[in-house]
Amino acid sequence: MAKDNIKGLRPETLAVAFGYDPEMGMGSVKPPIFMTSTFVYPSAQHAKNVHEAYFDGSGPLVGETNHIYSRLGHPGLDFLEKRLAAIDGAEEAVAYSSGMAAHSSIALAYVRPGDSVLHGRPIYGGVDMLYNSIMPQFGSHVAAYTDGTDENDVRKAADEAMAKGPLKLIIAETPANPTAALVDLDLMVRIADEVGAKQGHRPLVVVDNTLLGPFAQRPIEHGVDLCMTSLTKYCGGHSDLLAGGVSGRKELIDYLRMQRTTWGNHLDPYTSWLVLRSLESVAVRTERAMENARGVAEFLRDHPKVAGVTYLGFLEPGTPRRAVYDRQCKAAGSTFSFHLHGGEAEAFRMLDQLKLLKLAVSLGGSETLICHSASTTHYALTPAQRLAGGITDGTIRLSVGLEHVDDLIGDLRQALEAV
Ligand SMILES: Cc1ncc(COP(=O)(O)O)c(C=O)c1O
Repeated sequence: MAKDNIKGLRPETLAVAFGYDPEMGMGSVKPPIFMTSTFVYPSAQHAKNVHEAYFDGSGPLVGETNHIYSRLGHPGLDFLEKRLAAIDGAEEAVAYSSGMAAHSSIALAYVRPGDSVLHGRPIYGGVDMLYNSIMPQFGSHVAAYTDGTDENDVRKAADEAMAKGPLKLIIAETPANPTAALVDLDLMVRIADEVGAKQGHRPLVVVDNTLLGPFAQRPIEHGVDLCMTSLTKYCGGHSDLLAGGVSGRKELIDYLRMQRTTWGNHLDPYTSWLVLRSLESVAVRTERAMENARGVAEFLRDHPKVAGVTYLGFLEPGTPRRAVYDRQCKAAGSTFSFHLHGGEAEAFRMLDQLKLLKLAVSLGGSETLICHSASTTHYALTPAQRLAGGITDGTIRLSVGLEHVDDLIGDLRQALEAV
């Protein structure tokens, strides 16, 4: 289906119908997997033309029938990137070998020694480590806001970042891992504009859309610059692959794609095919998982051994967070945390008692996954950093899957008896 024909089509339709055309694959309804590292040129002049096009931006486009070498791009990546961009409502998308490959590539593309980065807390532990431990070794600085819905808190952190060096990136993970804390996307765009006016160049707003995925939240529609998604999670959806995607304006994505050639962290042909296939069902899978998550969250909220549940569907009407939720989220998602009365010992006793739920990090798979955040995904943070993000020793993260909700509740009920 040509790009001109997709106007008005909904993301659910694009996820099935756009990106691959059977004409490209000898009529095959599903795309072939092009397992090749390199591509034959029809002539020496053609070889020169495509290299010119790729490196100088002139001549015929690379892609479609003009591939060079799979690290630069391959047909499976073309199909996936077109589909991902269409679903996200963006001009272009680029796919990487993992979500962290996508995050690291954004950092390496846009942050230089002396620059600063602003992010929220909590945030996925790998991203925290990237900006607080690794990038500072290359001379970058960082500041963090703790309430992404509070204008004063974010502005104060932005000022702190700018005092350290030119602010280049504003990172918003929303809802945030593991507590489902929200970041106001409109506020981030406004702060980026203000910072741009003050320092003479506008920082990019990068949203990590992993926890809700492309059907429950559409960051590009809020004017953010880059929408990053760990495709490992809901988009892949079966806990059997690793991949990452970034969508945005053409000029930003072209730059990332060109750099990816050198970093060498593109997505391989087989995994590109797997993600393309999984995108077809992500809307229905997440719908069912979200329905289950509501049932599980209601059970936990009413349980005497549970001190609190961070499920977005429980946000009180009339509160600032609920207003942000209503503006930017289409649904409450199926990943959230609950806090047990007690700490690590109580949490471990409960987790070791589970029979159906799987004790594992990651989220967004067909099966329900559960983990103790402080000792796993957010282990590398100091206790103070964890607390600033609302993670206690009794915090347990749940990614609710596609099992029957009564079976999930039954397993949690018997495990909670051990606390
Ligand atoms: C919110 C978020 N962003 C990024 C990542 C990194 O993705 P990946 O594991 O695909 O590298 C994760 C992984 O758990 C995550 O939860």
